[in-house]
Amino acid sequence: MIQLDHVTHRYRSPEGRDVTALEDVSLKIEAGQFVALRGPSGCGKSTLLLVAGALLRPTSGEVTVDGRQPYALSPDERAAFRAGEIGFVFQQFHLVPYLSVLDNVLSPSLASGRKNRQRARDLVAEFGLEHRLDHTPSALSTGERQRTAMARALYNAPKVLLADEPTGNLDPENADIVLKRLAAFAENGGAVLMVSHDDHATGMAHEVVAMKEGKISHP
Ligand SMILES: Nc1ncnc2c1ncn2[C@@H]1O[C@H](COP(=O)(O)OP(=O)(O)OP(=O)(O)O)[C@@H](O)[C@H]1O
Ligand SMILES: [Mg+2]
Repeated sequence: MIQLDHVTHRYRSPEGRDVTALEDVSLKIEAGQFVALRGPSGCGKSTLLLVAGALLRPTSGEVTVDGRQPYALSPDERAAFRAGEIGFVFQQFHLVPYLSVLDNVLSPSLASGRKNRQRARDLVAEFGLEHRLDHTPSALSTGERQRTAMARALYNAPKVLLADEPTGNLDPENADIVLKRLAAFAENGGAVLMVSHDDHATGMAHEVVAMKEGKISHP
C-alpha cells in the first residue's frame, strides 16, 4: 500500500549546508499493516512521513501509494489523490486557526467534495470532543487539538494513515482511544505508519521500524 524505494531526501540550505534527512530508505507497508517508526530526534521520521504522504518530493527514489506514484502526478492531481487516499496527522497538527473543530474535521471535503456533517460529528464524538464542536483551535488544549487532527485525518476514509506522534500530548485514556482507532483502521484493510517514542504506542503496532541518521536500521 505504501512503498518507498531507495528514497533520499536532502534539505537545501542557502548557505550550502545541505541536510540529508533520508538516505536510501526502502520500506513497504501492506494493506492491513500497522507499523510504528521510532528513532532519535532529528533522524528523519517526520521527513519520511511527509515524503510518504505526497507532501514532499524526495530528492531521489520512488514513492508508491496504493499503486500510484504521487510525484508523477500534476500538483492538482496529487492534491486530489492525497485528499482521497491519505490521512495525515501532523506533528504540529496544522489545524486551520479560524475554523471550528467541526469545520476543521470537515475541511478535507473541500478537496474531495464529499461533505457529510454527520460523519464529522460522529468522528468528533468518537474522540470525545462533542462539547468542543464550535471552538477554534486556539481555545483547545493541546490534546484536544491532537484529537481534532486525528478526526480530520479519518474524515475522507483514506486508505493510508500517516500519524506523527499522534499520542504525544494525550493522557493514557485518550491515547488508548487513538491507538485503538489506528489498530482498527489497519484491521479494516488500511495501512498505518505512526511515528512514536512511546513504548505503549509502539507495542500496539504489528511492526516497529527503527530509524537512525536518515536510515532505517534493519534488524
Ligand atoms: N525544512 C527543513 N529545512 C532544512 N532542514 C530540515 C527541515 N526539516 C527538517 N530538517 C532537518 O532534517 C533532519 C530530519 O528532520 P525531521 O523533522 O524529519 O526529524 P524527526 O526525526 O521527525 O525529529 P523529531 O523527533 O524531533 O520530530 C533534521 O536534521 C532537521 O534539522
Ligand atoms: Mg518529527
